[in-house]
Amino acid sequence: MGRPGGSSRVLIIDFGGQYAHLIARRVREAERWSQIASPAEARGLLGGVDAIILSGGPSSVWESDHDSIALEAVESGKPVLGICYGHQLLAKVLGGRVGPSPRPEFGSTRVRVLDDRGLLRGFPREVEVWMSHNDAVLEAPPGARVLATSEGSPVAAFEYRGRVYGVQWHPEVSHSWGGMLLLDNFLSIAGVPRDWRPEDLVGSLVEYIREVVGSGIAVAAVSGGVDSTVAALLARRALGDRLIPVFIDHGLHPEGEVEWVSRALSRLGIPPRIVDASDRFFSELRGVVDPEEKRRVIGRVYGEVLREEAERLGAQFLVQGTIYPDVIESGARPGADTIKTHHNVGGLPERLGLTLVEPLRWFYKDEVRRIGKMLGLSSELVEKKPIPGPGLAVRVEGEVTRDKVRIARAADRIVREEIEGAGLHRGLWQYFAVLTSSRATGVKGDRRVYGYVVAVRVVESVDAMTARASRLPWVVLERIASRITGEIPEVTRVVYDITSKPPATIEWE
Ligand code: XMP
Repeated sequence: MGRPGGSSRVLIIDFGGQYAHLIARRVREAERWSQIASPAEARGLLGGVDAIILSGGPSSVWESDHDSIALEAVESGKPVLGICYGHQLLAKVLGGRVGPSPRPEFGSTRVRVLDDRGLLRGFPREVEVWMSHNDAVLEAPPGARVLATSEGSPVAAFEYRGRVYGVQWHPEVSHSWGGMLLLDNFLSIAGVPRDWRPEDLVGSLVEYIREVVGSGIAVAAVSGGVDSTVAALLARRALGDRLIPVFIDHGLHPEGEVEWVSRALSRLGIPPRIVDASDRFFSELRGVVDPEEKRRVIGRVYGEVLREEAERLGAQFLVQGTIYPDVIESGARPGADTIKTHHNVGGLPERLGLTLVEPLRWFYKDEVRRIGKMLGLSSELVEKKPIPGPGLAVRVEGEVTRDKVRIARAADRIVREEIEGAGLHRGLWQYFAVLTSSRATGVKGDRRVYGYVVAVRVVESVDAMTARASRLPWVVLERIASRITGEIPEVTRVVYDITSKPPATIEWE
């Protein structure tokens, strides 16, 4: 699918790290369309965009080899903004001096604004911004104006010929004062029209699906999550009964989930066909203990079951709720580490013999939610806590068996009941139980029992990129522990996971 409507185009060149998505999302919050590209991909795109942003990145400008793409960006004649590493790179290629900072700055940093015209319009004399750097721009390029300075960054922001800008700090991070103001100033100077409204695209997305599928039949792999539901709703509008929503029950869903999804989607007019394939999943998972291997097995079996079902239904197309971060993360990116293999992404299609239809592949989650609301998605569905595609398999350490899933499911239900019963769920990103592979001694009745250890994970997060353990009231934690050990005979101990992300992830596997 080509780039969706509107005429604004902002290109973000991704130099690694996790900054590019955040910048792209902020640009969209500023109502301009943004796209992420690797330095190599960017080459072919420079000509067709309104503005270019060079992202931060983990390397030093002296170790990496991105000078040529930075020069090409400058020479394209388009407005360019460099952020952190991008700022240093621009300074370097324009003839400024970049070297070790007299005082590396990490976290909240005070910056003095020297010139509040242009990029820093509306900024006060001093602001607190978020920085993370060892090198700094020590001298501005010839002909550039220094806009801001800090103790560790003599040139914390600069402007060159009213068209090229650099900032050492991260305006995309919410802790930076005026981050959106700065980005908006840049985009206004660059003359990028404010024309990005995902809701306006419903008509063209429906049209796109209709065009691709023609008179064919499509299955939609639905999970009850926002993305797959919105994709299926769009496809239903486009195809009517030629869209068949399919829900594969792998036997790894939390308690009540299958019934809940079935009811919620039926209410939306897309009742799913439930395919019970749990025996097959459990038999294929026998003996598999490695977390990545588990995900791969589940992904493979999921694909097989889906293909068979599509064949039975005579479908040639598969509608998937793939969203923009999935597209970027699923490996189109050289040099990016796979942190986890997300089974609802990539890998599946080639062997399926189905043509993929991904109407949401250009959108971020919050944009999908906006589209969903327009299509009548209830807040119950929009606010639903994410459940990983592989379900409880990633919450059972070691081999996944029916018996262990039964225990994990019961513990998970207790965590949910207690958190929701105490009215705490609204402020939380996720809350669940993990059946660990650790064992611990306990006493039940008069008997010594060597049972399972269950870990409780309750986190607060804005976007799952970072998270921290919630400081739950002690009484709630105690109640969870006493109910889990009291109601599940096989569990002798409950621990609370207080690790932040990073360094931990939210899920255990
Ligand atoms: P991590 O564990 O990477 O999780 O900190 C971040 C968020 O992603 C969810 N998650 C998944 N979602 N398929 C999904 O659709 C998956 O395989 C998967 N693994 C993790 C996780 O629940 C958290 O909200």
